Amino acid sequence: MAQSTGKRTRSHLGDIPVTSSAQTATVAEPASVVIRSYEPEDAAALVEVFRASVHRIASKDYTGAQIRAWAPDELDERSFATRWAGKSVWVAQVSNRIAGFGDFERDGHIDMLYVHPDFKRRGVARGLLEHIETSARGLELRRLYVEASITARPLFESLGFRVVVAQTIALRGESLRNYRMEKRLTLPALTMPGATS
Ligand SMILES: CC(C)(COP(=O)(O)OP(=O)(O)OC[C@H]1O[C@@H](n2cnc3c(N)ncnc32)[C@H](O)[C@@H]1OP(=O)(O)O)[C@@H](O)C(=O)NCCC(=O)NCCS
Repeated sequence: MAQSTGKRTRSHLGDIPVTSSAQTATVAEPASVVIRSYEPEDAAALVEVFRASVHRIASKDYTGAQIRAWAPDELDERSFATRWAGKSVWVAQVSNRIAGFGDFERDGHIDMLYVHPDFKRRGVARGLLEHIETSARGLELRRLYVEASITARPLFESLGFRVVVAQTIALRGESLRNYRMEKRLTLPALTMPGATS
């Protein structure tokens, strides 16, 4: 269950209403994960998380050449800082270490979601995605969508995303399989005062 501070936070998308989109939120189970807004000083650490997760987690589903194309050495924090401009980016911390991060764009596109191997299968990505979904609902977005890796597909499925299409993308001379997935964000049903079910 996410707990919020009840504050509003300024993201790249402007003020996002609270509940789970406050400055920090704590996901109590199964790991103690604090989720907060990205700060420019985080860039180097996030690049390390990205590299480690691709090279040490996604490598079970992709060849060495595909992994090198996905996370090449020449990608540095400057190229990521440019990529994150104009997006909402969230950082997950566990005991003051950055355990993962995720982002989404104004149209509901989730571009990046990465967890450090030291923290995998501890609910970090789930906490980030729940936070992203709450933020998206606060912005009245009607859908989230992603090009999910083979590795990430079970995660998104577990959170209610469905596969729209399996696709093969070209990346730095390699072909990589991924899945376009989406989740419709329906409005909660209104209950009329005095209505009986
Ligand atoms: C995909 C990724 C972000 C998942 O992060 P994570 O923090 O380990 O995932 P969580 O612990 O929050 O998993 C939540 C649920 O998703 C599902 N899930 C996650 N990883 C899974 C896997 N490898 N196999 C099967 N189910 C998985 C499970 O239902 C899991 O719940 P459970 O552990 O209680 O069974 C992480 O593996 C990663 O960084 N992968 C490499 C980079 C990548 O592919 N990024 C996605 C780009 S779109």
